[in-house]
Amino acid sequence: MSTRTMFLAVAAAALLLAGQPAAAQAPNPAMTQPDLVNWQLFITLNKNSKATPAALEWETWIDDLGNFPASPDPKTPPTWPSAGKVKVGNKRLLTAHTVTGAPRAVDERPAGDSSEETHRNKIAFDYIVANKMWYREGLADVVKSGTLIQYPQNAIEMKANWAPMDGNPKYKAGARYTLNNKPFTGRVDSDENGNAIGLVAMHIMAKQVPLWTWGTFEYVDNPGRCDFIGCKDSFGAKTSYVAPAAATGGFYSACQPTPALKALFKTLGGTDTTFINSYCLKGSQPDYVAADGMPSLLGNSVTEKGFVQSSSCITCHARASAASDGSNPSGFGAKPGVTPPVSYNGAPDPTWFYNTATLNPDELWQWEQTGKIPPAAIKLLPLDFSWGPPFCANSVDPTVPRSPCTPQKAK
Ligand code: HEC
Repeated sequence: MSTRTMFLAVAAAALLLAGQPAAAQAPNPAMTQPDLVNWQLFITLNKNSKATPAALEWETWIDDLGNFPASPDPKTPPTWPSAGKVKVGNKRLLTAHTVTGAPRAVDERPAGDSSEETHRNKIAFDYIVANKMWYREGLADVVKSGTLIQYPQNAIEMKANWAPMDGNPKYKAGARYTLNNKPFTGRVDSDENGNAIGLVAMHIMAKQVPLWTWGTFEYVDNPGRCDFIGCKDSFGAKTSYVAPAAATGGFYSACQPTPALKALFKTLGGTDTTFINSYCLKGSQPDYVAADGMPSLLGNSVTEKGFVQSSSCITCHARASAASDGSNPSGFGAKPGVTPPVSYNGAPDPTWFYNTATLNPDELWQWEQTGKIPPAAIKLLPLDFSWGPPFCANSVDPTVPRSPCTPQKAK
């Protein structure tokens, strides 16, 4: 670890610990108090940036468009957005992958659907660049060498979903979003065409534990917010468990921030109370399964729309992997050929990745121990839960179709 990376890691750890009330100092908060940890992350990420106050902290981090160039040149790696040069407003967004299915493109979504952006912090970005995972041929080299990919401590990645506000016929019917005719109360911004958009969902994953932390937040009035799997927040919501309603697509009552959440917001120096008053933690997912082996589920009503019933953040992300030519045969990770999509859940299956029929478990386990996988055994190399590189990286060869994260319209 370079001195700089070390400094960043220590600083990030200190930042997170600083906001933790003394009484809540658990031995391993990411595992024992995941709801608290997800709120710490959410509040910290959604603070106004010091360098670019009009932007939120995460908006100053590199996004997929910057991280995975449309026409990569291995000699010119992407660079971190310099302070003060971060673009504010008129966001360029990707179509949410679940809405229309692949392929997606920037701002070519059907009017009214939600759209998304993904950002990662510098620790994650530096690791992607150092391992050449920002273009397909670099990724191919990683797979061919059998390198065990493990992002450094305190890498953080997030995804934000935005929905059009006023003037969106889709949301006029039963839904409460709206803006100047009131009451959307969440974070507002503008899309590429200057139309008002509102933040409706946010995913956060952080490398505080080997399998990352998993949490998802929703705008309080998202229709169907707790449908199918319920909502569970044992730290920040007055009612810690809300059961799913029998009829789907309805509204759920406000989460009502607990005194502990309000205190945490203060301690962490949160800058906009909207983020604790208008957003709810839908849930956290600290492991693949419960103690009895029952698969754990977590999905957001916006981001995982259509497959919340089967959604498991951690399992689908375990499938983030690449083949030896750097391609991604797993699509967006759901079960192949099934519509509407169905997510894998429960523990991952090593046969997704390795030619295990020819190998013994003790041999497999040695790969985990040594961090070296015999290249001949690899079908798909797991890439440590981060979908960005396999899903978004483009080839240096212009005849290879562009990834779904690539703008189709020149700009
Ligand atoms: C069926 C598969 C699937 C499920 C379930 C899923 N994701 Fe993802 N996720 C993806 C794919 C594919 C991407 C990359 C493309 C994109 O941005 O849509 C992604 C992107 C992300 C990113 C941006 C960083 C990255 O990996 O590129 C975060 C953070 C994230 N997801 C968190 C979550 C959380 C939290 C949940 C559960 C609430 C979840 N995901 C559920 C497939 C899934």
